[in-house]
Amino acid sequence: MLGLKLPTDPRWVNIVEKNIEDILTDHAFCEQKATSTAISLIVSFPEYTELVQEMVALVKEEISHFKMVHDIIIKRGWTLGRDRRDDYVVQLLKFFAKGGSRTTQLVHRLLYAALIEARSCERFRLLSEELQDKELADFYRKLMVSEANHYTMFLGFARQYGNKKEVDTKWQQLLEYESEIMANLSKTETIHG
Ligand SMILES: [Fe+2]
Ligand SMILES: [Fe+2]
Repeated sequence: MLGLKLPTDPRWVNIVEKNIEDILTDHAFCEQKATSTAISLIVSFPEYTELVQEMVALVKEEISHFKMVHDIIIKRGWTLGRDRRDDYVVQLLKFFAKGGSRTTQLVHRLLYAALIEARSCERFRLLSEELQDKELADFYRKLMVSEANHYTMFLGFARQYGNKKEVDTKWQQLLEYESEIMANLSKTETIHG
């Protein structure tokens, strides 16, 4: 599914179930970061007209996801907690060497975004299938579809703006690297932990 090389260990859901409040806080900030990434791509690459148009739509969608998570937190009588460092993303963003042409930098950022969307989608699918909490399971099923579309869009833009063959090679290498990161994770109640 989604090209990912290593599926999440299903036992991760058991960890999540014991701490729904923490996963919701972490998830809310994932949506906030997805919003920020879309804004940042607009700022960094304004001349890519089609990308800018799609990023505007994405900003609206991701911030609406943030609100959906925030609404659930409020409904359950909780308050959004502080953001925590996302070790998965920190490690992932070390893969491509810094620098290169603007196009290269754009392609790298699009591939990172595609991968984070793909892994989020895979995690949401698992939550939708395994959570005992039916309200949350249904919620994650809906979000899973959105994130799958984002994955396709980011990968499509990378192939459109970069050299398709080079992009495909880089994508495969990034998938390999991501599976190595994942092998040491799935142990905490965070979306990517
Ligand atoms: Fe989202
Ligand atoms: Fe997304």
